[in-house]
Amino acid sequence: MLADVVRYLVCPVCGAGLELVDRGLRCPAGHAFDIARQGYANLLPGNARPGTADTPEMVRARDEFLTAGHFTALADRLAWNVSRADPAFVLDAGAGTGHYLSRVLDRAPKAVGLALDISKHAARRAAKAHPRCGAVVADLWRPFPIRDGAADTVVNVFAPRNAAEFHRVLRDDGLLFTVTPSPRHLGTLVEALGLLSIDKHKTERMDAALAGYFKLDSRQELETEAVLTHGEVITLVGMGPSAHHVPEEQLRERLERLPDPLPAPLSFVLSTYRRLE
Ligand SMILES: C[S@@+](CC[C@H](N)C(=O)[O-])C[C@H]1O[C@@H](n2cnc3c(N)ncnc32)[C@H](O)[C@@H]1O
Ligand SMILES: [Zn+2]
Repeated sequence: MLADVVRYLVCPVCGAGLELVDRGLRCPAGHAFDIARQGYANLLPGNARPGTADTPEMVRARDEFLTAGHFTALADRLAWNVSRADPAFVLDAGAGTGHYLSRVLDRAPKAVGLALDISKHAARRAAKAHPRCGAVVADLWRPFPIRDGAADTVVNVFAPRNAAEFHRVLRDDGLLFTVTPSPRHLGTLVEALGLLSIDKHKTERMDAALAGYFKLDSRQELETEAVLTHGEVITLVGMGPSAHHVPEEQLRERLERLPDPLPAPLSFVLSTYRRLE
């Protein structure tokens, strides 16, 4: 619930602490933010444009796909890695439906979690993803509405990374757990379906973008195979960088030449970074 994490939140307008009042959040200067019926708070400043936010269709499709269990091995591995740090407050930056945060909290019984996403459709689901998690609509490219040093753990799964803000909201000894696709993700399907291939130097580029704020602590690769219907392949493509690159019509045409269901190799890189002073 949002109440579990209000003490970590700050007003996006003036940076002061927030308090729960009636059906909203309020700072001492009187800036007020509604809590939606579904339980999330919108802390986007009024002038923000949710340009990259997921649409309701994208969120629904991802929810169905994740619930079907195709990424369970990934969620379990991530949750296991995070649980070993025995976290108290986990921030999932770009949490989507809260699928991964909920697995993490299952394995970390003392922790509370906050799902941050720019999509209110995602936040709506994330608010209900786990009894110990709250959800907030916010932009990862702006100052997070979170206190300095509030979190001991930041989780970031296939979502934008703001190194300076991750660093600010983490405690001195905080950890950042990222998940990114490896260049082997989806294997031969990339060519067969004309998808954007994953940059071979993606992990190195991520290390470079985080350098100065974080130091790589450990890295694992996880390879599994999913057997997907054509409909599920379309959802999976829609979840990735090819979403706006290959029109769905074209994707359907290309899929017609392939078996239904078909095997899809999944390949992920799980990285753990330590916050630098
Ligand atoms: C590929 S999805 C991953 C979601 C979730 N981590 C998962 O794996 O199911 C990327 C997420 O980042 C969110 N997102 C994109 N740009 C964002 C931004 N500037 N600020 C906050 N969230 C953003 C999207 O709304 C979406 O939920
Ligand atoms: Zn304020």
